[in-house]
Amino acid sequence: MTVRELQDNILKLKKETNTAILAHCYQAREITEIADFIGDSYKLSVDAKGVDNENILFCGVHFMAETAKILSPQKHVYLANRNAGCPMAEQMEPEMISALRAAEPDRKVIAYINTTAALKTVCDVCVTSSSALKIVKAIDSEKLLFIPDCNLGDYVKKNCPEKDIKLLNGGCPTHARLTVKEVKAAKAEHPGALFLVHPECTPDVVALADYVGSTTGIMDYAKKSDAKEFIIGTETSIAEHLQYDCPEKKFYPVTKDIVCHNMKLTTLPDIYNSLLAIGGKGGESFEIEMDDQLIADARKCIDEMIRLGG
Ligand code: 13P
Ligand code: SF4
Repeated sequence: MTVRELQDNILKLKKETNTAILAHCYQAREITEIADFIGDSYKLSVDAKGVDNENILFCGVHFMAETAKILSPQKHVYLANRNAGCPMAEQMEPEMISALRAAEPDRKVIAYINTTAALKTVCDVCVTSSSALKIVKAIDSEKLLFIPDCNLGDYVKKNCPEKDIKLLNGGCPTHARLTVKEVKAAKAEHPGALFLVHPECTPDVVALADYVGSTTGIMDYAKKSDAKEFIIGTETSIAEHLQYDCPEKKFYPVTKDIVCHNMKLTTLPDIYNSLLAIGGKGGESFEIEMDDQLIADARKCIDEMIRLGG
């Protein structure tokens, strides 16, 4: 089957099975083309809550599908590729965070949404990269522990000096690869370009940015800007999507190495096979199964995120 034939079959099966496809913007172009909802982690959480379809097929990583299930427990939620996980989401154990809470009960725990459902149950509120600063400023506590991403945490801390924010040593291995040397080389090659960066990058890289924001934030900024050239400091797919969307502008990834191999595990055949299985026509699907108590306990901090971040 050609890519176009595969996409046409997916669109047909999607309708037949009453399935909504949600795709994170780090997915490849051929996947975002057949998705119903595309966005950053925050937008997709809100979209998942409002979806009418009986089934949700998530093209992203495991914690995102888990979040969709927590927000829409009555729906069947599937992850298109069962092996797509986010390494950062697995970095901290709930027991360790519970022990830190017990030692300092007046310090509220803020969890980046890139965490397992089990970890969310011991946190007060979730944040995404686009909502972190707003939520940290809005939360009714001066003392905070921000987990697991110390780079996003550092960005929030610098922009919210009025709060006492503790960080732990976690983060995104994909964004952490980006170096100051690489950014300076890209700037030297494209002297007129603005540098747009994701706050999961290290503080020394973020310090060189003209704009810091989530994946959707970066895309919106580039589209609205009068500038014509941009160096993009996040997963390479964002520069690719922007180049399609704004052919009159120029987008350069800092390096072509900033690839999240977990996000890139999902393929069109995975989506096709998942939809075949959902429709009972063969194929293979991976449904997110969670018990009701875990859903209820993890949901509190996601609801709080939507309440404070909305
Ligand atoms: P956002 O979707 O919040 O931009 O985060 C990027 C990311 O790394 C998701 O895993
Ligand atoms: Fe996780 Fe980083 Fe990949 Fe996002 S880009 S899914 S945070 S490893």
